[in-house]
Amino acid sequence: MNSKEIRGKFLNFFEERGHKIVPSSLLIPDDPSVLLTTAGMQQFKPYYIGKADPLRDFKSRNAASVQKCFRTSDIDSVGDETHLTFFEMLGNFSFGGPANLDGSGASYFKKEAIHWAYEFIVDVLGIARERITVSVFGGDPSPLKEREASGSFTNHSFKGEGQVSRDAESFNIWHKEIGLPEDKIKEHGREDNWWGPTGNEGPCGPTTEIYVDDVEIWNLVFNEYYGKRLEIGGDGLELEKISSPGVDTGMGLERLAVMMQGVPNVFETDLFYPLIFKLREAVPKLPHETQSVLHKKVLKILADHLRASVFLVADGLRPSNKEAGYILRRLLRRILVYGIKYDIHADLFSIAVDFVKENYGEWYPEVKKTKEILEILFGEKDKFEKALALGVKEIEKYDRITAKDAFYIYETFGLPFELLQELVPDKVKNLNKADFDAEFQKHQEISRAGQEKKFGGHGLILDTGELKASTPEEVEKVTRLHTATHLLQAALRRVLGSEVKQMGSDITAERTRFDFSFSRKLTDEEIKKVEDLVNEAIQKDLPVTYQELPIEEAKKTGALYFFKEKYPDKVKVYSIGGNSSVSSEPAFSREFCGGPHVANTFKIGKFKISKQEAVGAGVRRIRGVVD
Ligand code: SER
Repeated sequence: MNSKEIRGKFLNFFEERGHKIVPSSLLIPDDPSVLLTTAGMQQFKPYYIGKADPLRDFKSRNAASVQKCFRTSDIDSVGDETHLTFFEMLGNFSFGGPANLDGSGASYFKKEAIHWAYEFIVDVLGIARERITVSVFGGDPSPLKEREASGSFTNHSFKGEGQVSRDAESFNIWHKEIGLPEDKIKEHGREDNWWGPTGNEGPCGPTTEIYVDDVEIWNLVFNEYYGKRLEIGGDGLELEKISSPGVDTGMGLERLAVMMQGVPNVFETDLFYPLIFKLREAVPKLPHETQSVLHKKVLKILADHLRASVFLVADGLRPSNKEAGYILRRLLRRILVYGIKYDIHADLFSIAVDFVKENYGEWYPEVKKTKEILEILFGEKDKFEKALALGVKEIEKYDRITAKDAFYIYETFGLPFELLQELVPDKVKNLNKADFDAEFQKHQEISRAGQEKKFGGHGLILDTGELKASTPEEVEKVTRLHTATHLLQAALRRVLGSEVKQMGSDITAERTRFDFSFSRKLTDEEIKKVEDLVNEAIQKDLPVTYQELPIEEAKKTGALYFFKEKYPDKVKVYSIGGNSSVSSEPAFSREFCGGPHVANTFKIGKFKISKQEAVGAGVRRIRGVVD
């Protein structure tokens, strides 16, 4: 049974039973509390809670759909036999409440939901009854017992309606009405037999799951409650009973196709095979036997990420450094990195776009806008290549790359560790992934501590603490502003004297912000003089160079350094003008610094002081821009 037949039979079955067939909603949901659409029920949330009227919109309290879904939780598992990011979900839904005046369109609950699911599997799909097992909600443990057993509450807190008891009704339908023997009906707690809410609040309730040959294929949710999370992302729920409870079921099309087509994994089903076939030709075979496992894994990751990206872009998502856009960017960058790492010369994006159009276009017309979709994909490729070029330039500066350097390069230019291994194997030969991961971990702890709140903690391709940028264009801009900031400090000291000392600085693509010690407001004339000095230095196109020195030696050179900063044992001393060797002729500016900087000052463009203000006793702040 091919996937088109499965979709068709499913929708027909429920249409015959009074369901309105509703098209898939976009992968970008209306619901602001979730990034992407992860379940078929999401577009129907308002109908479950009485905020929209299904009789008016669907002439029925029941609907069925094939929904495009994307789950980020599985990104890192993709590459095995089963995990995917994008998938399609077949679902039937009932929103609770009475029928139309003519008696049609009435909602249903556990009895019909379970009987129909069983009928569909056995009669329509032709699955033998013996292969089926199910699970039902076994009830929450009593809080008291749980406390006695473990010394504290574990998984969830109870509030509102609190403890939910065993779903005896579902058990009885399976056992007494359908006749499944007791040993084929398992009972589990909230970890396995509970759904939702999606996001921070919404319908939720116990589930019953249907397994074929011990593989879960269908999840039937009984939305008996409206749940609110006690804390964001937490398990604890405040529950309130819904007056007319509903049904929400979901069955993954990919998994069903594996079963119906008798193939070993999703990538061999008709939902993927034509793509895998093309990718097999496009990705050069790796030489060794042990590598063939890797080769297969690479094909699967590429197939998943390519298919998912095309759908996301077709639904209007654009790669960015924020939220859902960042998820798309991650998928695309992984594809692009693999392109380099595995020496792939074929145009993967065109292969994917053609594949999705041919195999899904009839069902999802939006994927037929191939030109538009390709434009976005290639746009991201350009951006990535620019960032890469900057990174490659940076690695030329190193003889040997330490874990710390590797992390800096990753953070600053977006060059992942695995690419360093490809590009400069000699420079990283003493470095292993575990050391890099340890650095990564350290950084995550710091950022969790709240350092990057303003930027949402992710998405920056450059973040030195002082400099922050999130695209290659921004990297270029903050680099210019950074060199300008060194010139600014030197100029301030020339005009105002050595009382001027750096107290802080912060550089974004919009501006540099420099804090320094000085006791009074600068006059307009002083401002003008500082600006002119900076612009003269820019016009002279002074070279920007550095020398690496042990910290104590570096301090003796008279180069400026920021007393608040903790410097490593070896530091770079950057000179603007003069000569890189700090012992020779004087320079316009000399400072301890980690970079990055422009190579010559002319690249900075025109510098302008946009604002001065006081930020405390004896501390002034200047903002400057370049254009
Ligand atoms: N919402 C449930 C799920 O996604 C059933 O559709 O599994």
